[in-house]
Amino acid sequence: MKKQYLITLIVAGAALITACNSGDTRRNPGKTYMPDMTYSRAYDAYTKNDGVTKDSLVSQLPVAGTIARGHALPDHLTESDSIAYRGLTAPYAMGEKELTEGKRLYNIYCGICHGTALDGNGPLYASGKFAAMPANLKGAQYLAMSGGQMYYAIMYGKNMMGSYASQLNHKQRWEVIAYIKKFQSENGGSPFTMGQVGATTAAAPVADSAKATASADTAKKH
Ligand code: HEC
Repeated sequence: MKKQYLITLIVAGAALITACNSGDTRRNPGKTYMPDMTYSRAYDAYTKNDGVTKDSLVSQLPVAGTIARGHALPDHLTESDSIAYRGLTAPYAMGEKELTEGKRLYNIYCGICHGTALDGNGPLYASGKFAAMPANLKGAQYLAMSGGQMYYAIMYGKNMMGSYASQLNHKQRWEVIAYIKKFQSENGGSPFTMGQVGATTAAAPVADSAKATASADTAKKH
C-alpha cells in the first residue's frame, strides 16, 4: 500500500516537473477548440454592423410600450398616448401618514406656483415672476382630472410647467396626488377614494377625458 502511494507520488511529481517551463519562452498559446468563443466578434454598438439585426444596429430600442422595471409608464410617451396614463392608479394605500407627507412635498415643489390653497395663485405667479397661470386645481376641469393624468403632468410636465420626475420618486408623486385629490374632495370634488391599494383616483368619465385630450392637444400647439 505504502509502495503504491510512493509510486503515485513520483509519477505525479514527474508530470508536474515536465509541465513546468522548460526554460524557453513559449509563445504558442496551444490549441483553441472553440475559436468563435475564445475570440468573439465584437460589434461597435453605435455603428452599422451589416446583417446582425434587421436594421444592422446592435443597440436596439425597447419594443414600443415597454415599461422599465420600477417605472409606471412606458418610455417615449407622448401626451396623445393618453390610454397609457389616464387609468393609472396608485399602488399604495394613501392613509393619514401619506397625506401629511404629500402635503409637505406639495408645499415644497408645487405650492410655489399652484398656491398652498391649490388655486393656481402661488407666490411665484402672484409676484409676476412666472408669467404662465398655473392650473387652478380647484377648478372644475381639474376636479375631474384623473390621478393618472396628474401623474403624467408630474412625470413629463405640461406646457410651461416642467417635469418633477427627478425631485419626487414614485411613491412621493402619488402622495402629492393623494393630497391634491383629498383637498379637492373637500372642495367640491368627488369623494376621496385613494385610501385603498389600486383604488381609482377620480371619476373622469370617458367622454370628458376625450374632450380634455382634444383641448390639451390644442393648448399644446400654442
Ligand atoms: C413653475 C411653476 C409650477 C410648478 C412648480 C408646478 N406647476 Fe403644475 N402647472 C404649472 C402651469 C403653468 C400649469 C398649466 C399648464 C397648461 O395647462 O398650460 C400647470 C399644470 C398642472 C396640472 C394640470 C395638468 C394638465 O394635464 O392639464 C397639474 C395636475 C399640475 N400642474 C400639478 C403640479 C404638481 C403636482 C406640482 C408639484 C410636483 C406642480 N404642478 C408644480 C406650473 C407649475
